[in-house]
Amino acid sequence: MAEKLQAPRGTFDVLPEDGGRRLALHGTTRDLLERAGYGFFDSPVFEDTEVFARGVGESTDIVSKEMFTFEDKGGRSLTLRPEGTAGVCRAYAEHGMHKLPQPVKLWYWGPFFRHEAPQAGRFRQFTQVGAEALGSDDPSLDADLILLLAELLERAGAKDVRLRLSSLGDAATRESYGAELKTYLRENEGELSDEVRGRIDANPLRAFDADHAGTRKVMEGAPLLLDRLAADDAEHFEAVRALLDAAGLGYELDPTLVRGLDYYTRTVFEFESGELGAQNALGGGGRYDGLVEKLGGPATAGVGWAAGIERILLAGDLAAERGARVFVSWTDDAAAAFAVVRAVRARGAHAEMEQAGRSLKGQLKQADRIGAAYVVLVGDGLQIKDMATGEQRSVADVDEAVEAVTG
Ligand code: HAM
Repeated sequence: MAEKLQAPRGTFDVLPEDGGRRLALHGTTRDLLERAGYGFFDSPVFEDTEVFARGVGESTDIVSKEMFTFEDKGGRSLTLRPEGTAGVCRAYAEHGMHKLPQPVKLWYWGPFFRHEAPQAGRFRQFTQVGAEALGSDDPSLDADLILLLAELLERAGAKDVRLRLSSLGDAATRESYGAELKTYLRENEGELSDEVRGRIDANPLRAFDADHAGTRKVMEGAPLLLDRLAADDAEHFEAVRALLDAAGLGYELDPTLVRGLDYYTRTVFEFESGELGAQNALGGGGRYDGLVEKLGGPATAGVGWAAGIERILLAGDLAAERGARVFVSWTDDAAAAFAVVRAVRARGAHAEMEQAGRSLKGQLKQADRIGAAYVVLVGDGLQIKDMATGEQRSVADVDEAVEAVTG
């Protein structure tokens, strides 16, 4: 026998049992986001590497360590998308979407790729759903998006969910705060982990993310960006919070919230679940007002989020949707059984027939396995068996059979 092959490390197959739950989540998401005016968007799973290098930021883990990058035959550097926001902004600029009525609201669902160490809830190919609103800095967009993700998680049955919220201000505030933080980190260099010390210049904010005990201690006394916001950013954040408060959504103000992507300005947030272990982030996002411009488009405000489908399914109890099922049983007349199957389906109902040569007894067992509510028995005439009551009766023709099992 030939050697059995396996899916690559950190990837997985979706088998039908899980597939049904995914489709249910897709349906819920679509319903929720389309009702809020988000239109479905899709883009290539690979982009010019430059889109992520410029968009997500060279110093981030995602760009510096985790990208699947390859050269095409023409020597161009391409990268399997590690996230969706940079591609959305590339497309906004490329298609001149600033000429459309603003804001442009898009949602997406698809595969993303990060070369991370695989563990529970962390994969090298995973699925994200995301929503992005471009072309307006209205704080109601921030609040609306956060509430939409909260509702999605609730509808998915995600348990033990908490929301962390903060604001990063604008680029100038971040710069002067960055300088202040760097000075503070330099003053306490001796207590920091090697990794954090090595990144003081490139990305001092990441020090808030560290697990290292000495670093954590130092960070307890660190200056906070939230205390340094410029007046208009503070006002923007107040407005977002007031809308969330009015909507009754609970959150924890967390001035140390650092997202692993460089493009954020103003609002940032993350939803976590206590059900998930180490990889506890269900989804997160924030505002990225300079990103379209960085990718060659006009100055454009933007805000959005993405959430991990595999993690939502792990943390939730969403069941696959299953309508009533019909099994068509036969022994001699396959064509007659086939006609019944097609007639039932034409009425919009589910129908399957025996297709593995089972005995009559085996067929009834199979009907039970698929959870059929009715079996249509095709033999000398037609009979209907109600699987719940066990009752069996004759029907005159296919129309009456179809009526009986779909009515
Ligand atoms: P992110 O926080 O990097 O944000 O990813 C969003 C979500 O994707 C995470 O919370 C997690 O559920 C899921 N995820 C990320 N990496 C993995 C992985 N290796 N395996 C399984 N799930 C994973 C972004 O990607 C931003 N683009 C979000 C955003 C949109 N910000 C503004 N707009």
